[in-house]
Amino acid sequence: MTTRVVFNQKGGVGKTTLLANLAAIAAARGRRTLVIDLDAQCNASQYLLSSDERQAESGTADFFDATLGRRREGTTLAEHITETPFENLYIAAAHPDLETLRVKLEAKHKIYKLRQAIEALSDFDEIFIDTPPALNFYSQSALIAADSVLIPFDCDDFARQALYSLFDNIHEIQEDHNPGLKIDGIVVNQFQPRAKLPQRLLAELTAEGHPIIDAHISASVKVRESHDASIPLVHYAPSHKITGQLGALYDRLS
Ligand SMILES: Nc1ncnc2c1ncn2[C@@H]1O[C@H](COP(=O)(O)OP(=O)(O)O)[C@@H](O)[C@H]1O
Ligand SMILES: [Mg+2]
Repeated sequence: MTTRVVFNQKGGVGKTTLLANLAAIAAARGRRTLVIDLDAQCNASQYLLSSDERQAESGTADFFDATLGRRREGTTLAEHITETPFENLYIAAAHPDLETLRVKLEAKHKIYKLRQAIEALSDFDEIFIDTPPALNFYSQSALIAADSVLIPFDCDDFARQALYSLFDNIHEIQEDHNPGLKIDGIVVNQFQPRAKLPQRLLAELTAEGHPIIDAHISASVKVRESHDASIPLVHYAPSHKITGQLGALYDRLS
């Protein structure tokens, strides 16, 4: 079982898009795959479940609520996992209540609960954790629970500044909580091969020793269409260029 978190504290860089599509590729290749959605905005859950299925789900908010010890049932993650419409793909969905729970969870030092809950799961080959765009209780829990972290990057100068503090945060978590946490690398999303700025930023980051993965993801309208249809690209546009790029990224990671 491998657990991968997709994290960057900057929003809109493609965390949810990459995570949901990599998980769907793993599942389509016959790996029993779980997505854990820790973002109160619930985007991964919206992408992988229909709205009817979502309404029935309590998911990760219910799991964390149970860890606060106010009730006995619901303390294992397995109780909050549901099937998606896609074979081999399961999800512990998010709920907006995650936001209000966060302060209580922080106050009660529940930062290792996710790691323990994942260790207790046995029937998955791959786990992908989606995170909110902030270094907070949920993203820290995920970084503590994961075997590796994949960092999406959208090649703008603000995103570059965010990368430096991101690596500081990851190193701190490695030192204090999770020495085994591996950095998969930085994946460039919405890459524009003919624009000058991305080329320059990537050359500079590489020169500084940052681990840029040599499998970039293009921008494509298919991404929004597939979000809108709640069907990941491997099923929505199986022979599209971007689906091929995502497959190549998956191969690079495994
Ligand atoms: N490769 C891409 N091509 C086109 N649009 C993309 C691509 N990746 C992400 N997007 C769009 O950018 C927005 C932010 O992506 P998202 O995955 O939600 O980022 P994050 O989870 O980091 O906030 C979404 O509207 C998504 O549809
Ligand atoms: Mg997201």
